[in-house]
Amino acid sequence: MTVKEDDGSLLSDEKLVDYALNFLLAGRDTTACALSWAIFMLHQNPHTLNFLLKEIQTVTNNSSPTYDQIKNEMPYANAVFHETLRLYPSVPGNLRQANKDVTLPDGTFIPIGCTIY
Ligand code: HEM
Repeated sequence: MTVKEDDGSLLSDEKLVDYALNFLLAGRDTTACALSWAIFMLHQNPHTLNFLLKEIQTVTNNSSPTYDQIKNEMPYANAVFHETLRLYPSVPGNLRQANKDVTLPDGTFIPIGCTIY
């Protein structure tokens, strides 16, 4: 399989490795942190755990939920996860530094070197 850049040129092996590594690094600690806090808080709030288990059992009939079930039929599980990220965000802050002058779509001008948090 060949992977192409937006301009149609072939993606170098080095860049492909960088992309794959980026996904691994971006996806590992964020997910581990969110799940760890979720499990920690469910342990501290057994009534919430019971509601969650009931929803899982009702929706999935005791098998693993599918992505679509989690997305469309499990509002309680979604609330638990969102509340976990609200209280203990895996990425509590984020910043970007402009490497050239840039104008955002809403007209805001960002000069080179400016850091936005
Ligand atoms: C609870 C889980 C996660 C949280 C809270 C989270 C949060 C974030 C945040 C805040 C950013 C920065 C967005 C920006 O500055 O534009 C980001 C970027 C990114 N995340 Fe996640 N993430 C999570 C899970 C994952 C997973 C599971 C993957 C991959 C399997 C992933 C892959 C990425 C990648 C590749 C980027 C960079 C996107 C880009 O190049 O602009 N993330 N994530």
